[in-house]
Amino acid sequence: MAHRYQELAQEFIHNIEKGLYQPGDKLPGIRTLSTDRGLSMITAVSAYRRLEEQGYVEARQRSGYFVKLRPVIRKLKLVKSAELPAPCLVTGQEMILAMSKAVSDPDCIKLGSAVPGPSFFPIQIVHKALVKATQHMQRLAGYEQPAGAPELRIQIARRMAMQGYLADADNIIVTNGGQEALSLALRAVTQPGDLVAVESPTFYGLLQIIKSLGLKVIEIPTHPENGISLDALQLAAEHWDIKACIVIPNFNNPQGFTMSDERKLALIRLLSERKISIIEDDTYGDLGYNQSRPASLVSLAPHADILYCNTFSKSMSPDLRIGWVTSRFHKNALELLKFSSNVATSSVTQLAVASVLESGKYERHLRKVRLEYQVAVDRMVIKLCQLLPDECHITVPKGGFLLWLQLPEHIDSNLLANAALKKGISIAPGQLFSPTQKYRNYVRLSCARTWDARMDYAIKTLADLIRFADSSVA
Ligand SMILES: Cc1ncc(COP(=O)(O)O)c(C=O)c1O
Repeated sequence: MAHRYQELAQEFIHNIEKGLYQPGDKLPGIRTLSTDRGLSMITAVSAYRRLEEQGYVEARQRSGYFVKLRPVIRKLKLVKSAELPAPCLVTGQEMILAMSKAVSDPDCIKLGSAVPGPSFFPIQIVHKALVKATQHMQRLAGYEQPAGAPELRIQIARRMAMQGYLADADNIIVTNGGQEALSLALRAVTQPGDLVAVESPTFYGLLQIIKSLGLKVIEIPTHPENGISLDALQLAAEHWDIKACIVIPNFNNPQGFTMSDERKLALIRLLSERKISIIEDDTYGDLGYNQSRPASLVSLAPHADILYCNTFSKSMSPDLRIGWVTSRFHKNALELLKFSSNVATSSVTQLAVASVLESGKYERHLRKVRLEYQVAVDRMVIKLCQLLPDECHITVPKGGFLLWLQLPEHIDSNLLANAALKKGISIAPGQLFSPTQKYRNYVRLSCARTWDARMDYAIKTLADLIRFADSSVA
């Protein structure tokens, strides 16, 4: 549960964003606020401090708190989706190697890959849990069960139950991260040569898996606020034999949107009627800034053919490589595929994650880190809006830590990424997010870094590269 001051701050943010308070307006005084709401003065002060931290208000000496002039956020233009999409193969993607090399370079400012900086992870807690897990000596001397350590599967099932889906622990397959969960899910419902539908733009790791499995792909236009176009998907499903559709409905990578429950249900209906398996990637679902977690597809339709994938890589530690996939209908196929891929995921890491979950420390960490992500995203959005030229547009997510930027038409984001790398900054060029290298003038930025002078330098340098684009980036 959030503290009262956080709820109060959130309420003011909502009202400021709705225009109830305009820039320059004075907010109620501390004493008035605490008397009217029956709160302590400390709570009222903490709420205002939080608003100040996030750039919504400013304190004026002896006058109180005033709404600040926030830069106008130019939102992304909306895509048109009337045309019939056509199947294709995944090509390009060479830039991924340069980006992954940058991740291990300590001098590089990493805005490209979606890997949060160390301060966003509960490293001490994970370390202690790992040490404890190595004491299970007997487990170290054998293979773990292919489906995963029962201790962890029970903890995952409990978490999913809290989020509205009564998962059977026996149906959960623990995987080496989310990447393996997606790969097993795809292999369980397709054969090489089959056609799968993806959001466009979509997470490039997914495109890599599709390519490595010899699948064909069809890109469905995806709205930066509403999610996958149901009209375009329906049109595609009427023309092509689509075996599976993969979506990231909550705090989408890269666009940041969350689909409404109504649209999630319509999507499930559309695909279920045509017997198309749904692969749901809920990697960022726990990272919303609001109190209530958005519903997963599987919690809205527990009896539909949904293969639900998730990972602890963004919320606990990417290095543990712990994810999972659960499905009512494909459990046996998934278990066999896991066994034939790598027998089982290491028990030490599984037991460590299980004990972090059981201790309640994970939930406490999530409560803290969600707010930290929100502050980091807000800060980056404000900075970008101040520095980027007017033709740039930006998504503003309500969870996670990714931003999707549309740049002026003449910018080639592959060239921009190369030019930025030379200055010690990594970004993810838009071409990576499409099997046909669409999104030439888009980039994805990760905000999950502690803000310091290096971040100021990185954003200023990027903005200069875009603003004064020469032949190296255009
Ligand atoms: C949407 C999405 N799915 C899956 C993954 C892969 O997760 P993992 O690092 O656990 O393999 C990522 C990682 O960036 C992601 O953003």
